[in-house]
Parts: sequence; structure tokens; C-alpha cells
Amino acid sequence: MESQKLSFSRHHSYEIFLGSEILPELVGKLSRMGFHRRTLVVTNDVVAKWYLEPLTAELKKRNFEVQSIILPSGEAEKNLQNANRIYSQMIAFDIDRGSPLITLGGGVIGDLGGFVASTFKRGIPYIQFPTTLMAMVDASVGGKVAVNLPEGKNLVGSFYQPWLVGMDLSTLKTLPLAQLAYGLVECVKHAVLADPPYFKFIMKSRSEIKNKDIGVLQRLVRRSIHIKKAIVEEDEFEKGKRALLNMGNTFGHALEVLGEYRRFHHGEAVGLGILFALGMAKELGILKEDYSEAINEFLNDFDLPRKMGKEFHPNDIFEAMLRDKKRNQEEIRLVLPVALGQAEIKAVPASELKELLNAVIMNLY
Ligand SMILES: NC(=O)c1ccc[n+]([C@@H]2O[C@H](COP(=O)([O-])OP(=O)(O)OC[C@H]3O[C@@H](n4cnc5c(N)ncnc54)[C@H](O)[C@@H]3O)[C@@H](O)[C@H]2O)c1
Repeated sequence: MESQKLSFSRHHSYEIFLGSEILPELVGKLSRMGFHRRTLVVTNDVVAKWYLEPLTAELKKRNFEVQSIILPSGEAEKNLQNANRIYSQMIAFDIDRGSPLITLGGGVIGDLGGFVASTFKRGIPYIQFPTTLMAMVDASVGGKVAVNLPEGKNLVGSFYQPWLVGMDLSTLKTLPLAQLAYGLVECVKHAVLADPPYFKFIMKSRSEIKNKDIGVLQRLVRRSIHIKKAIVEEDEFEKGKRALLNMGNTFGHALEVLGEYRRFHHGEAVGLGILFALGMAKELGILKEDYSEAINEFLNDFDLPRKMGKEFHPNDIFEAMLRDKKRNQEEIRLVLPVALGQAEIKAVPASELKELLNAVIMNLY
């Protein structure tokens, strides 16, 4: 089992453990952290079927009293109603400030459970056991926790670092290929932001990735954590550099909201968002190296959408982008690619965005 340590100045540091078939070791680490012996596991119906019983059994072996809450699967469940359900169960189970909350699942469960942990009794420890590639390479690194509102994605949330993250790569064996591809989009995003050799590695390892070669997946997860860790340690609260990680998100979130979180998965929306960012950078004349062909080929190879569909009207996209968080007064801050491995944050006035949007999204119909 390998690990990477994340250190933040204001709070604490924590370790991310990574390996295959490592559940007993992970629970061993957790049990030595001095928590109270009562814990609630937050998971969903799909993940529970495979992984809840083994986790519960390991926890009980280590003298934990365990309860679980099993939510339905899907982005639409990342909401305040489910946060309330979890709060109620924690009160009924008498969870105190020394008891850890454990999330077992993808980014939806991690974001929701983390949000609850950050607010319950002004914050209790939380442990993340991510089970999707998306959650391993992105959602469980850096402490952004949130729930969605009908008006927008992740509109209620906070920065709250976990106490420990345990990534058992063997859980990816049951992950559908489409879900693996959504996580891979985030790996591609890390690569195009910061690491051209990593981009080449992903492109040449596509068949091993599809075959879920654990060695290759471990290299991806290790590399992406490393890139994201370097950024979030420097800028925990997204005052500057961390915003680079939002490449494709403002546009992607707009599509997710307009599709009521059902039409596009987050990974699909970010893939389209990267194409959008490339188009926008070209339109603004800042793109020195156009790698949209490679992105299109990658999306096609993994059956990810390269077009968004006619039902998304430019005006609606514009309004939804304005409602997203990355907005400051009448400007929107967009992360735009300059070359492979290089991107910049550009503030675009809302009025200008409206015009540019019309031109750029034509290529996405
Ligand atoms: N906090 C952050 O920094 C951050 C970063 C990126 C994404 N996110 C959030 O993460 C969410 C997307 O995460 P996701 O892609 O993991 O989606 P998800 O949590 O919905 O999981 C995807 C699907 O895979 C299923 N699943 C999970 N693990 C499985 C396994 N091992 N085997 C079989 N099926 C499994 C789930 O039930 C679900 O149906 C979005 O809400 C997004 O906003 C957060």
C-alpha cells in the first residue's frame, strides 16, 4: 500500500492510501487514529451491494459499532434532503464529535457525506473510501464538499479536509466502463493543465485502461493525485491557482443543471467543457497549440459525447453559466487552455461572453 501526504497550513495534514485489495489494512490504519468506536457509513444502493458488508465486517473486527445509511444512487441525490436524513440518523445513533463519518462510494456520496461531516456539530472527522475513478483522482482530493440546489450545482458547501482517504483500486473492477471513462476525463484534464507526458501516457494506455489493468490505473490515480495535491496544498481555499482545476466546469455545470443532473453525468459534461474551453480560447486568440483533435478522438474512443444536443439553447447556457460560482460581479472567470500543459484564468465580461458563446457552441451542436 502506497501513500501520499497532503499538508495544509491552517488545518491538519492527512494521508491518502492507495493499493489493491487493501481494505483490512485501511481499516487497521483507521482504527489506530483514536476515534470513538461508533461510526456511520454513508453509501448508496449500488455500492452497498458490493462493498458495505466487507467494510462493516472489518470495522466490527476492530470493535467499531457501525450503522449505515444507504441512499439511492445518482447526482440528483446530492441534496439537502439527504443531508437532513443523515443528520437525523446521526442524532438517533448518538454520533458525537469524536466519532468518524465514513463515506463509501463515488463523488456524490463523498461530497454529500463530507458536507454533512463538516456541518454536523460544527464538524466531525470524516474518512473517505472512494470507489469510482472520478472520486479517486478528483473528488476525494482537496476537501471540497457540497450539495446541489435546484438552481445550481454545489451551491451549498465548504472546504473540509478528510482525516484519511483510502483508495482500494480493486473496487474499480465492478465500475461500469462508462463510469471509468468519466473519471478518466478528470485525468485528461489534469494532464492538459500540467503534464504533457501524462497526456501521452493516457492516450497510449487506452486499451489497458479499458481492460482495467490495475497497474495502469494505479499509475493514473497516483499521477492525478500528485498534480492535484501540488495545486490544492498551495491554494486550499481557491483564492488563485486552484481555480485552474475548474477547466471545463463552468460550461459543464451549466449543462448538468440544464439537463437536471440526469441528461449528462459530471464527467460527460466536463469532457464537453474541455472542448468548449478550447473553442473559447481559439475564439479569443490565446490558443497557441490546438489539441482539440486529440480530445475529440479520446472522447469518441470512450463513447463520451462530443456534441451536446440541440435542446440546449445559447441563452439558457449563458444564464446557467452566470449562476455558477466562478463569477465575480459582471465577469465570469474561465479557465482557458493555451497549450498542452498550460492554461490561464481569464475574466470575461458577461456581455462579451454572450456573443462569444454563440460562436463557440455552434461546434458543439
Ligand atoms: N469535491 C470535488 O472536488 C469534486 C471533484 C470532482 C467531482 N465531484 C463531484 O463528484 C460527483 C461525480 O462523482 P462520480 O463520477 O464518482 O459519480 P457517482 O458518485 O454518481 O458514481 C457514479 C456511479 O457509479 C456507481 N458506483 C460507484 N462506485 C462503484 C463501484 N465500485 N462499482 C460499481 N458501481 C459503482 C454509483 O452508484 C453511481 O451510479 C459529482 O457530484 C461532482 O460534482 C466533486
